[in-house]
Amino acid sequence: MIIKPMVRNNICLNSHPAGCAASVRRQIEYAKKTLAHEDNANAPKLVLVIGCSNGYGLASRIAAAFGYGSATVGVSREKAATENHTATPGFYNNLVFDKEAAKAGLVSKSLDGNAFSDEMKTETAQAIREAAAAAKLPAKIDLIVYSLASPVRTDPKTGVMYKSVIKPIGAPYSGRTLDMMSGTFITASAEAATEEEIFNTVKVMGGEDWELWMEALANEGLLSPDTRAVAYTYLGPELSWPIYRHGTIGKAKEDLERACREINKKFFSAGTSAEAEGRRFPSGNGGMPPNGRAWISVNKALVTRSSAVIPIIPFYVSVLFKIMKEQGLHEGCIEQIARLYQDKLFRPGCTDKAAVPTDTDGRIRIDDWEMREDIQWAVYETMEKTTPETVLANTDILGFRHDFLEAHGFDVAGIDYSADVDLSGEGI
Ligand SMILES: NC(=O)c1ccc[n+]([C@@H]2O[C@H](COP(=O)([O-])OP(=O)(O)OC[C@H]3O[C@@H](n4cnc5c(N)ncnc54)[C@H](O)[C@@H]3O)[C@@H](O)[C@H]2O)c1
Repeated sequence: MIIKPMVRNNICLNSHPAGCAASVRRQIEYAKKTLAHEDNANAPKLVLVIGCSNGYGLASRIAAAFGYGSATVGVSREKAATENHTATPGFYNNLVFDKEAAKAGLVSKSLDGNAFSDEMKTETAQAIREAAAAAKLPAKIDLIVYSLASPVRTDPKTGVMYKSVIKPIGAPYSGRTLDMMSGTFITASAEAATEEEIFNTVKVMGGEDWELWMEALANEGLLSPDTRAVAYTYLGPELSWPIYRHGTIGKAKEDLERACREINKKFFSAGTSAEAEGRRFPSGNGGMPPNGRAWISVNKALVTRSSAVIPIIPFYVSVLFKIMKEQGLHEGCIEQIARLYQDKLFRPGCTDKAAVPTDTDGRIRIDDWEMREDIQWAVYETMEKTTPETVLANTDILGFRHDFLEAHGFDVAGIDYSADVDLSGEGI
């Protein structure tokens, strides 16, 4: 079958296996080149990535496996191909990841199912034990990456399904954004969320499920005093706050930060006696202070399957990319995560959790280049002055569109899109 992208309302409905494979392989090469060096003694050896198949989660897994040689277990929810429809991009990404890992002699296990369910947590625990045995490692996870982005979640205790919404709180929102495929301006509007919609969005994208994961992994004996955990958030510039930070998603992300504090209190010695109260582990690590901790990492705005549907993102990110590329500061998911590992979480020669650089709220900031004052000023001024006639000159809408298509395996250099494709992904 010949596959062309099918895009509706900034959502791409299909994917290309060969393009997905090439994109994963490009990230693998970057991870090898950037992270694999001698002084990696404190790098993680056994890694769990929840939401491993796309975007930031995929990059986190690739960086750990191919940068550090970690054994990885990944969880994501994908759809295989049918007779006349492609699989989801994550399906192909997992396939090629496992294939490349096997070639490189790395242990990898990819689980496909609902990460919000109790069953998937139990299945994952078993996969971690198997991965540890195969890699001849103790069955203790060194790094847990929580990188889910989902529109729905069923509460495993009550069976109630919740749907998240991207809406402002308190007042309606209306703002200019770009239609990615046509490059024309459109007005994105959203009514203010109801109390129920806010609650539901927090249920889906807040921290409850992360806490349940940590609890399940602790009960399975898979955490150690040195386990590190990280979940991703976005803060963004003030102009996006009405729809993002001060909206329903922002409330959910506040809850993720609450969960981070709870996880630290419950499972890790966080440094002070007050925080250490109630922690699960006695001081450990052969007399050394434990190095485990949970962090929130604030990441840069990037084009992923999830971010493209947030109203202001296509316009803001198109301008941001233009400015950051001009300044030589542009990064994609793999570059961001390589920096997260190398400069923050696993700085060479530095095993002390207290030495992980954070802001005053304890968050890791890899959105630091995006949020630089000069960058933000330039973005703001450019957004203000951009008209329908100057979209191509003032923004990197073409780069945005490319990244969006690439996240689905399209528009990838070197791929013959006129060639017949085996939808199953076998042979990629
Ligand atoms: N994209 C950005 O610009 C950006 C910026 C900062 C922070 N973040 C955060 O990073 C995290 C990941 O976002 P992304 O943009 O990489 O998303 P993405 O859509 O690229 O990936 C989401 C992952 O979650 C998995 N997933 C979704 N529902 C699932 C379920 N029920 N069970 C198992 N797996 C499931 C998907 O399979 C996929 O692997 C989110 O918390 C997001 O808020 C994103």
